Amino acid sequence: MLQGRRVLLAVTGGVAAYKSAILARRLVEAGAEVKVILTDSAREFIGAQTFAAITGGQPFTTLFGETSVSPHTDLARWCEVAIVAPATASTIGRVANGISSDLVSATLLTTRSPVLIAPAMHTEMWEHPATQRNINTLERDGYLLIGPASGALAGGDVGIGRVVEPEEIVEAVEAMLSPDDSTLRVLVTAGGTREPLDPVRYLGNRSSGKMGHAIADEAARRGFTVTLVTAADLSALPTVKVVAVETADEMLDAVSGEDADVAIMAAAVADFRPSKSSEGKISRADGLDSIELSPTPDVLASVVARDERPFVVGFAAETEGVERAIEKAVVKKVDLLVYNDVTEPGSGFESNTNRVVLIDGEGQTEPWPMMSKQEVASLLLDRIVGDLAARA
Ligand SMILES: Cc1cc2nc3c(=O)[nH]c(=O)nc-3n(C[C@H](O)[C@H](O)[C@H](O)COP(=O)(O)O)c2cc1C
Repeated sequence: MLQGRRVLLAVTGGVAAYKSAILARRLVEAGAEVKVILTDSAREFIGAQTFAAITGGQPFTTLFGETSVSPHTDLARWCEVAIVAPATASTIGRVANGISSDLVSATLLTTRSPVLIAPAMHTEMWEHPATQRNINTLERDGYLLIGPASGALAGGDVGIGRVVEPEEIVEAVEAMLSPDDSTLRVLVTAGGTREPLDPVRYLGNRSSGKMGHAIADEAARRGFTVTLVTAADLSALPTVKVVAVETADEMLDAVSGEDADVAIMAAAVADFRPSKSSEGKISRADGLDSIELSPTPDVLASVVARDERPFVVGFAAETEGVERAIEKAVVKKVDLLVYNDVTEPGSGFESNTNRVVLIDGEGQTEPWPMMSKQEVASLLLDRIVGDLAARA
């Protein structure tokens, strides 16, 4: 519920602006205090009086000339969350590029509160490289994106670009404002560890770290306190505490030093390392008949064994089917296990998409469709938050 929560709804100029009247209505029904900004173009599609009647307050429409001297700073500081729905390519472009030339963009560039952006436009516009570049920038800057969905578009077209339904947006806002958000400590591991053979060579694996980084960024966008222990050379949002490691031993050390309510162990930790690591580079002339291997520490097991055990999510990248992963979920005593078959195209290492099966601690399976790693991260966090709420 959103009882008493201060929600700013920015409506920009697309046909889907009519749906934002329903969104405003749903927010008010959920108990939120709602203020609305309409761009000039939005008012070509829907009247201010509609929102005034729904929210009980006149919408804000201009940077200058309204009752407040500085409406953008007032609104930016007032809101606990801001929604842009529908978000046009034009507004997305302004915000992504720091252009604060109207009340919506000026407010979004001023607010420190989380912002949810629901794009809506024709497929061609959505897929244009400029739009995609701007969307990527917004995601990197910590904005939360929802949609667009696929389906019927204005003018009888069909494709991706539909604004998501008002009810879905309300659910996302509820998740963003969940009272536990700022206190939930999320520990994420990512990347493949590298176990040295000599100063030049290592035993490694093909994990890119993209899945773990996507989870850490998504958790940060939701306002969680996030620590990312990573063996991958990828960026993370500025609010994520990043601990860079290389080997399984270093990962164990870093993880041991972090208290957490939720531990999401997405790293591919090497199971074995060379028993001896040479101080100097091993030369071809010296020869090397074999490499003796020793097992590495089990980082996941160390977290499961904690006295104050967090909610633990393991990852299993397998090649032999889901049965082994089901066994692993039960034996390792995790709360959830995310399984993926890394031999499947578009799934697993290095890819931007993933098709996973979620397995719970009892071995019950839930296959998810192929999605971007970001979508998997988002759904996984929804599921974790839901499971924690059910326990509470
Ligand atoms: C009939 C019509 C429908 C439009 N629908 C969209 C839309 O769905 N998404 C979009 O990005 N732009 C759409 N536009 C273009 C925007 O209205 C235009 O780019 C405008 O400058 C956006 O301004 P704003 O972002 O300040 O609201 C539409 C324009 C017209 C004439």
